[in-house]
Amino acid sequence: MKLAIKLAVVAAVAAFGVAYAAGDPIKVRKALMQATGAAAGLAGGMMRGKMEYNADAGKSAIATLRAAAHAHGSFYPEGSLTGDTTASPRIAEDAEGWNKTMAKFIADADAAAAASGRDGPADLDAFKAAVGPVLANCKACHEAYRVKN
Ligand code: HEC
Repeated sequence: MKLAIKLAVVAAVAAFGVAYAAGDPIKVRKALMQATGAAAGLAGGMMRGKMEYNADAGKSAIATLRAAAHAHGSFYPEGSLTGDTTASPRIAEDAEGWNKTMAKFIADADAAAAASGRDGPADLDAFKAAVGPVLANCKACHEAYRVKN
């Protein structure tokens, strides 16, 4: 894996730790989304041929996406939809839809991790097939549950 990307993932995960320790749910979920973004960037770079496919990097991207997907939904306590956040009030207004959207993200990430196996997807096509459905969740959720500012 390219060092810069490795460092980006490590930095995002470290930011998560700091925010978590500070007990600030908005910071925690943003840090989790930054880790998600770093992993998606790594996945996209390989999918677009900007960097050579590597099974370890593929496995790592999928594992990061999965960990963030599982954790993310826990950081929307009541009263956390205002302040320094781009989370939409719709998260509270349409809790059922939000939970469904989150559950789909988690299910797709679980499926990708299962397909990824112990050694990571064997080649780029296997990686694309595994991670593609996970990446489709980003835009769908952001359009519905994030405000543009
Ligand atoms: C189930 C909903 C959902 C899914 C799926 C989702 N996100 Fe997010 N994402 C959000 C919400 C809500 C925010 C706004 C968080 C806030 O500002 O408090 C956000 C914010 C972000 C941010 C900005 C973080 C910051 O520092 O402000 C990035 C980057 C991001 N998402 C990347 C991704 C990527 C990449 C994916 C797909 C792999 C993804 N997200 C999937 C809901 C989602």
